[in-house]
Amino acid sequence: EERHPVVIAVDGPSGSGKSSVSKAVARRLGLAYLDTGATYRAATWWCLHLGLDLADRDAVAEAVRTMPLEMGVDPSVESVLIDGHDVREDIRTTRISEKVSAVATNLEVRAELGRLQRALIDAQKAVGSFSGGRGVVAEGRDITTVVAPDADARVLLTASEEARLARRALELHGDAGTEAVEATKDQVLRRDRDDSTVVEFQVAADGVVTVDSSDLDFEQTIQAVLDVVAQVAGVR
Ligand code: DC
Repeated sequence: EERHPVVIAVDGPSGSGKSSVSKAVARRLGLAYLDTGATYRAATWWCLHLGLDLADRDAVAEAVRTMPLEMGVDPSVESVLIDGHDVREDIRTTRISEKVSAVATNLEVRAELGRLQRALIDAQKAVGSFSGGRGVVAEGRDITTVVAPDADARVLLTASEEARLARRALELHGDAGTEAVEATKDQVLRRDRDDSTVVEFQVAADGVVTVDSSDLDFEQTIQAVLDVVAQVAGVR
């Protein structure tokens, strides 16, 4: 059946489960997947690789403008290459997580990466693209509001602080025990605070549907997002 390309935007704070949920939604609908957080992480990696002082806003912005980044959009195969370096694992380390806000709060960087993300989204509308023109699930902090406010479906995925911290701890330390949660707490909450100084991702904008995953398991969360997509975009 012929179908117009569909763009699904998912925003949310760290630990809301938006990456794994967005990937699963993309796979089930046969869409591409764009992790915009990975572009901020990659930019941070690149600036550190070049030995830049992240507080030097102009130098950082210039480096990001010329960053040789190749972002994969297959929801089943993560691929992030910079100048031939496979940085998939490196960009998830605390070395990067601790510093990424310094880059993500640089407004010139946001403009540049926003343009890049927009181009990656638009590319998936073409028949010759990874998705075959079916479209993309793009996930981040400002996709529903800034990067793709015209998306066919826009979702804010939230979760209680408790649920978010437990998930992050599980992800980072392989367990959600009290010690792991405490170790994660400062990092996650500080990053959310820093990030929310430039982008509002805790409150849904007009027309954005909130899905609260606090009391949902993974499969239920996927279903809740698929339900929103079916309702507002007619895609199933
Ligand atoms: O989702 P994540 O943890 O991989 O995001 C990494 C960082 O990038 C985080 O500090 C928030 C920031 N970010 C952003 O400012 N805008 C986006 N669209 C995505 C991520």
